[in-house]
Amino acid sequence: MRPRHFLTLSDLTTEELRFLIRRGRELKRLRDHGTAHESLRGKVLGMVFEKSSTRTRVSFEAGMAQLGGSAVFLSPRDSQLGRGEPIEDTARVLSRMLDVVMIRTFGHDKLERFAEHSRVPVINGLSDSHHPCQLLADIQTYVEHRGEIGGRMVAWIGDGNNMCNSYIEAAGRYHFQLRVGSPEGFEPDHALIRDIGEGRVDICRDPMDAVRGADLVVTDVWASMGQEDEQSERERVFAPYRVTAAMMAEAAGDALFMHCLPAHRGEEVDADVIDGPHSVVWDEAENRLHAQKALLEFLLLGDTAAAAD
Ligand code: CP
Ligand code: NVA
Repeated sequence: MRPRHFLTLSDLTTEELRFLIRRGRELKRLRDHGTAHESLRGKVLGMVFEKSSTRTRVSFEAGMAQLGGSAVFLSPRDSQLGRGEPIEDTARVLSRMLDVVMIRTFGHDKLERFAEHSRVPVINGLSDSHHPCQLLADIQTYVEHRGEIGGRMVAWIGDGNNMCNSYIEAAGRYHFQLRVGSPEGFEPDHALIRDIGEGRVDICRDPMDAVRGADLVVTDVWASMGQEDEQSERERVFAPYRVTAAMMAEAAGDALFMHCLPAHRGEEVDADVIDGPHSVVWDEAENRLHAQKALLEFLLLGDTAAAAD
């Protein structure tokens, strides 16, 4: 049987994605109560990082340890990947030794090629075009603070990047409305809006229009990993898209603010927003751990792990 992969949110159904949120919250409660839960004892996760990471690396590694398994870190600098071994060959070899693989890379096609040749589930730990694990944490965080996200209005402000694309998929899967406030030339993938957004996504040129009445305001860096050369040009283009307290005042009174981190205070978000009363960024970061533990269990054990508790 071919393994299930998690390369984008579209790899799972709405029901499965909702299950992951419930399960992530259960696993969080178990950990909060100090209850050991070693459903993945003996399982090994491979983590291939072609870009830097703090949260993704630590949450996957700690998550596997907490579930009774372990994780192996690989980077191009110290593996044969950096010396040109084909990704297909790497996939064939790693997937004969490991139980699940997480990859953070540049082109999304590399993940797809790896998954095509892998015997075990492959998880996207961020590519140039998607960051689905972060969305699991974001949705869990919204649900914990405000209840169901279905029917709510979410505003994405800034670059139409990997995170924004995953928000578009999440709007389709979790049934919320999404307004994207992006400058011309930096919009998200239009095909994704057409095919997956299911009439739930609007593009606004004026960020104030995007945030008006929103229940959740989200932003991200202006220059993603791999775009460092464009930093100064992007600072110029995105200056009107900084999330400020004035912008948050246009959102719903109880609106939440999220950022996947790392953040640049004074660039894409002002300090009084990210460190202010609307912000839930620390819960959001923590939930990477719980949401991904739910994902790992789901990909390796199906939804039976939850039933066994
Ligand atoms: N949000 C996120 O993916 O953080 P890292 O780059 O630190 O993994
Ligand atoms: N859009 C950012 C997200 C970092 C977690 C990047 O790709 O660098």
